[in-house]
Amino acid sequence: MHEPILGVLCSGRGTNLQSIIAAVESGQIPARIGIVITDKPEAKALERAAAAGIPTCCIDRRACAAKQEFEEKLVAELKKAGVTLVILAGFMRILSPYFVRAFKEHIMNIHPSLLPAFGGAHAHRDVLAYGVKVSGCTIHFVDEGMDSGPIILQDTVPVLDDDMEDTLAARVLVKEHILYPRAIELYLNGQLEIQGRRVKIKN
Ligand code: GAR
Repeated sequence: MHEPILGVLCSGRGTNLQSIIAAVESGQIPARIGIVITDKPEAKALERAAAAGIPTCCIDRRACAAKQEFEEKLVAELKKAGVTLVILAGFMRILSPYFVRAFKEHIMNIHPSLLPAFGGAHAHRDVLAYGVKVSGCTIHFVDEGMDSGPIILQDTVPVLDDDMEDTLAARVLVKEHILYPRAIELYLNGQLEIQGRRVKIKN
């Protein structure tokens, strides 16, 4: 059996990447991170990966004429690194069906709300504006829609009366850092079975 290889895609600071690196180092995640790719040269995730000795690559979206060119480069880098599971960790771009088909059922995303509520790029702002009392985070497989793929794991946090976007985000992030490594671990242990919209977790 070949060693599983993760490819992690990030756009910014990379704290979820950091939690995944820690879980690989502790042995919780039985895989190697083959490459970390960002769509922005200034993404702090690049420094985190380099500090952990992980190969990095930046494919600057702004330097690509079209989305197709950007995604072809992404797919090429991931394939070159031998990636078997793509991890979107704060990757703030919507991927087209072309990309999704290249790694069908082998792409996971984290989203900082309880999907299907509050998808999109401003989850915490939208949660506070709506006034719900509970929020959380979701790990899901990526399909061809936005934030719409089968849900693997979710966890909740209370929304407090005096919450601002940053305080809510910080509370959710604590859960994210536990949930994402756990979802990857379940996947790599062969414990996830997609049955239509539902993901069954086998013992
Ligand atoms: C995380 O909160 C993640 O859930 C969110 O971006 C943040 C990235 O933080 N993702 C999305 O909003 C996806 N739509 P990080 O770079 O520190 O991991």
